Amino acid sequence: MTARSTETYLTGIKPTGEPHLGNYVGAIRPALDLAERGDSLYFIADYHALNQIDDAERLRGLSRSVAAAWLACGLDPAKSLIYRQSSVPQIFELAVVLSAVASKGMMNRAHAYKAAVERNERAGRQPDDGVNMGLFNYPILMASDILLMNADIVPVGRDQKQHVEVAAELARRFNKRYPAGFQLKTPRVHLDAKALVEIPGIDGRKMSKSYENTIPLFASPEAIKRCCMKIVTNSQRVQDSARESVVVQILSTVASDDVTSQIVSALEAGSIGWGDAKEVLSKQLIERVEPMREKYFTLMADSSDLDDVLDDGAREARRRAEETMSSLRQSIGIGRSGHDVS
Ligand code: ADP
Ligand code: TRP
Repeated sequence: MTARSTETYLTGIKPTGEPHLGNYVGAIRPALDLAERGDSLYFIADYHALNQIDDAERLRGLSRSVAAAWLACGLDPAKSLIYRQSSVPQIFELAVVLSAVASKGMMNRAHAYKAAVERNERAGRQPDDGVNMGLFNYPILMASDILLMNADIVPVGRDQKQHVEVAAELARRFNKRYPAGFQLKTPRVHLDAKALVEIPGIDGRKMSKSYENTIPLFASPEAIKRCCMKIVTNSQRVQDSARESVVVQILSTVASDDVTSQIVSALEAGSIGWGDAKEVLSKQLIERVEPMREKYFTLMADSSDLDDVLDDGAREARRRAEETMSSLRQSIGIGRSGHDVS
């Protein structure tokens, strides 16, 4: 077992879709490995999801489902905090403070906004067509999530690296502006080697809810099997492409190295075909997710356990948040001297 450090790990999860195998392998599993190392905080980034989801019931449902998924996959609330972003109002307060040190140019260069502008330009539309301020300000709100909790390390996927760098830069700018006052911690990004692996979906492209090519983590065994049977197999001969095939790539994320090697050898030797390999994959997947599936449905069926965990997490998160904000408000001249804002 790894020795626990005194560092704080924090990551946010946007409740924008039902968790799939790609999320598990690329985000949930590596983040939970890190939870073993130190103080760890996970939050459901529900206000971030507003940029994509405008159906109240769906947002509420997805927030619960994402929290239940993390708990079912092994997040232990006795060791890690889990809370809803919306339960910590100080996050939105700090975002306002950070806006005063964030230059617009920096936001113009943020990947998500730049990508939206480039898409518009390619399509011959106005650069800001369809871009809301939520998307533009996203890096500031995310910086606030991170800096408020004094996070040292932020485990994220490659696409989020720049956002963590923005958070570090905003902390430096804030600290420089108030050198004698409360100082924000400068966070570092953590890119887990395992998290960098891109799991292909059943059509061979990156597994993503946007492509509707996912294997949902908590689908029924029959549905998992149906997804596995639909995985594309290339027209090359099995023997030539076993190792690179989508079936084997997915298999290697859930099966042991031994099982994966056996299947590759059998495919290469021609003693089994794609159909057999898909059978093995679906069996391995179903076995792997079964205990998590049970826990997930138990949590989803009885909302009180899940709510209790999230409420406990929120209380502690608000306590930490208020500790940061009360010192920070003093430094910047908000409220009466020596008093908290009331
Ligand atoms: P989606 O692409 O389905 O919209 P998200 O963008 O919400 O997924 O991703 C949530 C987390 O899961 C991110 O950390 C992302 O890096 C990870 N993730 C998503 N899809 C994959 C994949 N196919 N392989 C590896 N990691 C993935
Ligand atoms: N932006 C992240 C994503 O899209 C989610 C997120 C919001 C986050 N706030 C965060 C991740 C703070 C790490 C730290 O996946």
